[in-house]
Amino acid sequence: MKPVSSIVVLTGAGISAESGLSTFRDNNGLWCDHRIEDVATPQAFARNPKLVQDFYNMRRAQLASVEPNAAHIALAQLAERFQGSFTLVTQNVDNLHARALAGRTLRSHFELLPMHGELTKVRCSETEKIVNWQGDITPQSQCACCYETGTLRPHIVWFGEMPLYMNKIMRALQACDLFISIGTSGNVYPAAGFVQEVKRAGHGKTVELNLEPSQGHSLFDERIYGPATQLVPKFIDELINTTI
Ligand code: OAD
Repeated sequence: MKPVSSIVVLTGAGISAESGLSTFRDNNGLWCDHRIEDVATPQAFARNPKLVQDFYNMRRAQLASVEPNAAHIALAQLAERFQGSFTLVTQNVDNLHARALAGRTLRSHFELLPMHGELTKVRCSETEKIVNWQGDITPQSQCACCYETGTLRPHIVWFGEMPLYMNKIMRALQACDLFISIGTSGNVYPAAGFVQEVKRAGHGKTVELNLEPSQGHSLFDERIYGPATQLVPKFIDELINTTI
């Protein structure tokens, strides 16, 4: 592998699958049991806030019973050791990347960007203030900023809403010389278009690590298929050995 100075990694639900969290579109995925229109749009929340809160309360509670796996840990080790710029963009709202990174001395050019929000944060619909949150959100939950009940929503980007950190992400994609996409089906934009953004910039190598070919697999320069806990540590080890 050629030495690299700027890396962007994009992760999706597949990286957390072996920790025990369901993906969205695989057999028994979250979108098999729940319709997107019922639980993952602003209209759904306006129509039936309890149903939407229950869906995210269930997912938030599940975080207590799962741990980061070898793939999250390998990326955290890269964040500790890689001296260039490393932007870890995740579509996942679980906190497994953050937990794998916790307690490590991270390089100053590292950043974790959860572009679809975070289960462990809630947002006040009145003030847009974001606060950390552990338990369920119930109709009785009182907002710490406006002291109202019924104003808190999950800090999650729903369909029809703008993903977070897009300016930073686009800058990182345009500047990177290695883009690695891990555990995502490539169904949801803008993340599904990141590989094209790197190609447009014209200097970044693109790699897909996934259980099976994604929607956009043919756009990647290199493709390796298998479970993330096997592929990612091996790929990152090789990267560290050749670039650090
Ligand atoms: P998907 O469920 O669409 O895709 C998961 C991908 O992970 C599939 O391509 C699987 O083959 C792969 N996969 C499954 N197990 C794996 C493993 N052990 N190792 C490696 N790969 C594995 O999930 P995402 O692509 O993350 O958005 O979905 C993108 C967005 O769609 C989500 O962030 C969510 C969803 O609707 C919102 O809710 C806004």
